[in-house]
Order: sequence, then C-alpha cells, then structure tokens
Amino acid sequence: GKVLLAYSGGLDTSCILAWLIDQGYEVLAYMADIGQEEDFEAAKNKALKIGATQVFIEDLRKEFVEDLVWASVQANCLYEGVYLLGTALARPVICRKQIEIAVREGCQFVSHGCTGKGNDQVRFELGYYALQPDIKVIAPWRDPAFFNRFPGRPALLEYAAAKSIPVVQTASKPWSTDENLYHISFEAGILEDPAVTPPKDMWKLTVDPEDAPDTPERIAIHFQNGIPVKVVNTTDKQTVHRDSLDLFLYLNALGRKHGIGRIDIVENRFIGIKSRGCYETPGGTILRAAHVDLEGLTLDRELRRLKDQYAQRLSEIIYNGLWYSAEREFIMASVESSQATVNGVVNLKLYKGNVIIEGRSSPNSLYDAKIASMDEAGGFNPSDSEGFIKIQSIRLKAFREQKQLLPGN
Ligand code: ARG
Ligand code: SIN
Repeated sequence: GKVLLAYSGGLDTSCILAWLIDQGYEVLAYMADIGQEEDFEAAKNKALKIGATQVFIEDLRKEFVEDLVWASVQANCLYEGVYLLGTALARPVICRKQIEIAVREGCQFVSHGCTGKGNDQVRFELGYYALQPDIKVIAPWRDPAFFNRFPGRPALLEYAAAKSIPVVQTASKPWSTDENLYHISFEAGILEDPAVTPPKDMWKLTVDPEDAPDTPERIAIHFQNGIPVKVVNTTDKQTVHRDSLDLFLYLNALGRKHGIGRIDIVENRFIGIKSRGCYETPGGTILRAAHVDLEGLTLDRELRRLKDQYAQRLSEIIYNGLWYSAEREFIMASVESSQATVNGVVNLKLYKGNVIIEGRSSPNSLYDAKIASMDEAGGFNPSDSEGFIKIQSIRLKAFREQKQLLPGN
C-alpha cells in the first residue's frame, strides 16, 4: 500500500519513514510549511535518501493565517484563559493538505509521528477521518511493533545509523518544540517538573522583556469585520502593512523585538493528562489585545457576553481537534455575524513585554459621549437611575431575609 507520511525531517519521523518501508509500504513524504524555521530542501533530500518515492513541500502559511488565525482573532480564542492555541490552530490546515495529497496520489494510508499521550494524535486523526472517512491511519508510536522495537532514543539512533539516516548533530535540547508562524511550544524533558523555571536560553522567538528596547514603539491596527487589514507604525510613521501574511509577520517581528507573548502554564490535555508547557505567541498576543479592545467600543453588551461564551467553547473545540465539526461551523457562523460592526482602529504601545492600549475609534462605535459624560446632564433623566437601582435591589433584599432564616443564623 501507499502511505503519505507527515514528515518533519527529525529523528522520529525519519525512523518512521524507514520503518514503514521495512514493513513493505511505499512511502510518500509530506512537509507543511506553516512558518516554522526549517531547511525544507535539506529535509526533502533526507526523505528521498531514506527512500521516500516522492516528497511534497507545501507552503500553507497564507491559508493558515487567513482561515485559522483570523478566525481565532475574531473569536478572541483562548484555551483555559491563557493558551492562544498556536499548535492546535495549525492542525486543521496541515490535515487538509495531507488528505488532499493522499487522495490525489492514491494513498490508502496516512501516517504521523505523534505520541500516544498527546493532543496532536487526536487532532490529526479526527481531521483525517472528517475529511476522508475511509482513510487508514498508521500511528507508529501507538503500534507495539514499533514502540517495543524503539523503546528510547538510543534505539532510534542505532536504527538511524544502520539505515544510514543522517542525524543532525544539533546539541539535542532537553525539551520538545513545535513551531509555526503563530507560536512555538516547549514541552517535556526538563519542563516536566512544573516547578522548574525555564532556562533563559530556551525562549526562541522573543527577546527577554528585560532586554527589550528601552523606548516603546507605537502602532495602529485597523480592523474590518474583526480582521486586521492594515498596520501602521506610528513611531516611524512610514511602515504600513496590508497583505494578510505580511501584516501578521510584521506584528510578529514587533512582538519578538519587544518581548511580547511568553507564557508558562499547566494545561489539561483532551485525553485527561495535565501537561506543563511554555509558549511564545508574539503577534497573536498583540492582535488579541487590540481586537478585544475594539469589541469594547463596537459590540452590544449582551451580544458580547454571548460571544465570549462561544469563544470559550470554540477554544475547546479547536484544542480538542474538532475543527471539522458541526459545532465549529455553527459557532464560527455566529462569530462572523457578530463582527459586522467590529471596524476601526486601535492604537497600541509595545514596551518590554507589554501591549498597552492607547485609545481606539470606530465608524460603528456604540459609545455615546453625551450619555457617558460626567460633566454634563443629558441623554436621559438621572432620576430614572434611582428606580432602576431600587428594582434591582428587590431580590437582594429577599436573599438577605432568606439567609437570616436559615438554621445557625
Ligand atoms: N500542548 C500544546 C497543544 O496541545 C502544544 C503541543 C505541542 N505539540 C507537539 N507535537 N510538540 O496545543
Ligand atoms: C505529542 O504527544 O505528539 C506531542 C504533545 C501533544 O500532542 O499534546
């Protein structure tokens, strides 16, 4: 049979590639460019040398930004109140292209190098099945024939040597990473003790806020329907970005420079394990702050509350690998309809790890200066507020009485 393997160029997927060939499969390798730092040409040659019959390198950066990152910006996605979902967001795009190629090339099987303990196995496979119901999945790290043969890194290295798979002698870092243009994650290894402080040299995308420039930089982000369409640097007064990918990469560059978007958390994986992870999401952190702010000006209060609940559900849906589901389509349709008024500009200051909002404006503002002003009467009769407060207090008074009648009072 023919297998399309999601290949990274690293030791694990290189051994998986060779092992699949040993099992009698014809293996085609697939690499998704989602903005990670990678020598794709070198990885391609490596896959061919190991025995892949074809290697596909796909630039998915633009669709990643436009289909997934923008959706999460519109919704203000955040998992468990802290994680911007950088790994989870990339999976639907990677799956979609993998299935497209598998179908086109007549592969009955797809394969990946995820472990049996993580979220990614779930995300990839739910994506595969949702997009191509009769696809067959080979997950070597869950196959006893594979994991009993390779109980640890030494066994993989030995096999790599036997198969003359070049092992790049980068001093292996004591943690594992997953990188794309939205973020980088650090997990496992020395990070498995949640009390351990990550070493300063672990962080890769952002400068330490302590080392960030002493002078702030100011930008204006313009939104249309909740999507960023223009970024103007108001400090240098000349840099303007309009193209979606350029715009996002520019915010990333600014975020990196100013040390924005580092977190260190313990999260709940879908399968029920707690996991400690560190993340850097520079551009995403800036965008989220700006978008949330503009919604303050432009969304009706009750719409905003409802939408915030949806955002929490959507974050779980994305985290759990359920992008290709009815519930995601339903929520995204609602989110999109909520964004019709989210137009305007947010001014921000970037300074030593902080994103500081410095005002906003919108043609669709709901803010009424006359009603809001403390300096002038107007808009409505202030004595109406007295009735409002009295009515609101009815149930508070009843609750107090009820409590006083409880035993022990
Ligand atoms: N814990 C994060 C998540 O589930 C990051 C996962 C990183 N994945 C990886 N294969 N290293 O989204
Ligand atoms: C993995 O297990 O492959 C990485 C971690 C995760 O997917 O959560």
